[in-house]
Amino acid sequence: MVFTLSCFCADPDPLQDICVADLNSKIKINGYPCKPESKVTSEDFFYSGLVTGASTDTPFGFGVKRGDVKNFPGVNTQGLSVNRVDIAPGGLIPFHVHPRASEANFILKGTCLVGFITTADVLYAKVRKVGDLSIIPRGLVHFVVNVGQKKAVVIAIFNSQLPGIAELPNNMFNSTPTIADYILAKNFRVDEKVIAIIKSKFGNQTKIAKI
Ligand code: GLV
Ligand code: MN
Repeated sequence: MVFTLSCFCADPDPLQDICVADLNSKIKINGYPCKPESKVTSEDFFYSGLVTGASTDTPFGFGVKRGDVKNFPGVNTQGLSVNRVDIAPGGLIPFHVHPRASEANFILKGTCLVGFITTADVLYAKVRKVGDLSIIPRGLVHFVVNVGQKKAVVIAIFNSQLPGIAELPNNMFNSTPTIADYILAKNFRVDEKVIAIIKSKFGNQTKIAKI
């Protein structure tokens, strides 16, 4: 018999049919407590928040609408969520990771270069057109660039109700409090002046909403 010590580490399985998140509960647990079934309605399971896209008039030229547990409480305990990402021509979803989920993404409109980098520093990337699917393994750095002439729309599906996002450019150069310039300079093997220039590009920009 073969025993494995590997951790599947996906969101926990549901222990009941439905558990609509009570987002206002004062109880802190891993996830969200269920709201009383007497208060559950059809609206909790049918969400139209992704029908229209978010504005792409943002620093990187993309906008996200999230169908995660915070916006769509019916996904609580179901182990999945869905985002809609609109990307302006020339815009991109910058380098980022989802600590709690693998991502499958589907091109609904436009043409995008989708890529991820493994922990062995191998880049896998391909231009994707309408109807194409890509898989981004859990926790790996990835990006999506709109390489077409028109707006692109990407549907991203996650095996977590709250995949989380750490967006690397903001993580590195726009943290609170900020990382000391000498540390960034050593990391990127450049002069501190270069770091100051990069930081100045982030200083006044609105951070992409963290989940
Ligand atoms: C796309 O990569 C997303 O994380 O929504
Ligand atoms: Mn992603």
